[in-house]
Amino acid sequence: MAQVFDRSSNALARFSLVLTGIIVVALGVTLNELQRSPWVTRQGQRPDQPIPFSHKHHVEGLGLQCQYCHTSVEDSSYAGIPPTKTCMNCHAQIWTNATLLEPVRQSWATGASIQWIRVHDLPDYVYFNHEIHVNKGIGCASCHGRVDEMPLMYEENTLQMEWCLNCHRNPATNLRPTSEIYNMAWAGPSGDHPVWCTSTGQNTNPDGSSIPTSQQVSCTTTDPTHSGPEVAQLQPPSPGGLGRPQSGFGSAPHPVEGGEGQSVASPLPLQLKTVNYQKFTSQMELGKYLTAEYHIRRPEELSSCETCHR
Ligand code: HEC
Ligand code: HEC
Ligand code: HEC
Ligand code: HEC
Ligand code: HEC
Repeated sequence: MAQVFDRSSNALARFSLVLTGIIVVALGVTLNELQRSPWVTRQGQRPDQPIPFSHKHHVEGLGLQCQYCHTSVEDSSYAGIPPTKTCMNCHAQIWTNATLLEPVRQSWATGASIQWIRVHDLPDYVYFNHEIHVNKGIGCASCHGRVDEMPLMYEENTLQMEWCLNCHRNPATNLRPTSEIYNMAWAGPSGDHPVWCTSTGQNTNPDGSSIPTSQQVSCTTTDPTHSGPEVAQLQPPSPGGLGRPQSGFGSAPHPVEGGEGQSVASPLPLQLKTVNYQKFTSQMELGKYLTAEYHIRRPEELSSCETCHR
């Protein structure tokens, strides 16, 4: 009987073994890739919303501020999605017959909220909080991209752990003055476009209530220092020290006939105070300054597991 397996089939067996190996490895690589792919992370996808709401039209076109609709973003972990009432503020008068807006009118008539599909959705085991990020100088655009240019909302970043950690290990590269958190076009300081900042170093109001760290710093993109690094500002004097810059403008304290238990604001004259501005021409300089002023924790603390998994 002739040999059943000749030499060539031996080679074939070996070849198919190698091939299987390659397939297994390739599958592993693919699965790993897949986990990071937009298909899984949903990065860049535009889900079919019940209404094709355009941020581009409402933000860039009409000039609406983010807070007009996402009211709780500065003082809660959630930014929040606006109720139908917010849309009806305008759409009770404009585009009242548009079929596109039928679901809005229906929701208003029935009281059933619009079923928006979530675009960003972290797993439950991850703790996230908007309040701390925006109050420590991380702008919406750093995480959500140029929302003002999005006809339909999509996820700009993966929201994967690596992405969070990338910033937590080096927040300075993303820090901006808190006055700029809603500024979609903020590009950070440069030689041509410097930023000047000053800090009051003051953490309590005259009435003893505390001032958030971020509000002790004020920055500007127009040169406040034509006449040297010190700028005179009008400030109402206060027993506990000086208030926030400009807090006295336009509202010079009036003498108030105090009722019971009410403190009487004294009609003290405004005082001249000098304010020191520091000039920044690069993101790294500004980032370092704000890291200190906003009391940003060390990278090791920010990337420890308990920060996000509690
Ligand atoms: C006129 C109201 C309005 C304004 C102004 C507005 N938004 Fe929205 N936003 C919405 C609505 C409605 C949705 C839900 C529908 C959608 O995802 O497009 C939404 C969704 C979002 C989402 C995605 C939510 C999710 O499902 O994950 C982000 C992020 C967002 N907005 C950011 C912003 C930013 C940043 C600004 C300011 C530049 C802004 N929005 C201004 C109404 C508004
Ligand atoms: C401040 C007023 C205002 C508010 C608030 C507002 N809209 Fe509008 N909306 C407009 C105007 C004005 C237009 C027409 C814009 C255009 O044609 O450029 C418009 C257009 C639209 C359109 C038509 C498509 C488009 O984008 O041009 C849709 C859909 C829409 N709005 C949905 C909503 C929803 C949903 C909400 C609530 C989350 C909302 N709007 C809140 C003023 C508003
Ligand atoms: C540090 C990154 C980061 C910054 C800065 C940030 N967001 Fe978000 N945002 C997220 C993440 C992550 C989610 C998803 C949260 C979840 O699934 O629990 C989200 C969700 C949202 C949502 C969906 C509703 C909600 O509250 O979960 C809206 C709306 C939103 N962001 C608006 C804003 C606006 C407006 C700003 C700026 C004032 C902003 N975000 C700043 C990361 C950020
Ligand atoms: C662009 C930069 C940036 C990105 C991206 C970012 N963070 Fe942060 N995060 C910060 C900064 C800055 C702080 C404030 C640190 C401080 O105050 O010490 C912070 C603080 C936190 C805190 C601490 C809150 C507290 O109350 O202690 C948590 C939790 C957190 N981030 C979760 C996340 C998660 C989850 C993601 C990803 C989905 C994320 N962050 C993405 C910059 C970022
Ligand atoms: C800055 C926030 C942050 C920190 C710090 C952090 N994680 Fe995560 N982690 C996340 C986010 C966001 C996800 C969800 C990823 C996703 O949805 O794909 C995640 C997911 C995970 C998962 C699920 C599997 C995976 O990779 O998707 C594990 C396990 C995990 N983290 C462990 C850890 C450990 C261990 C540490 C400490 C060394 C840590 N994490 C620190 C934000 C963080």
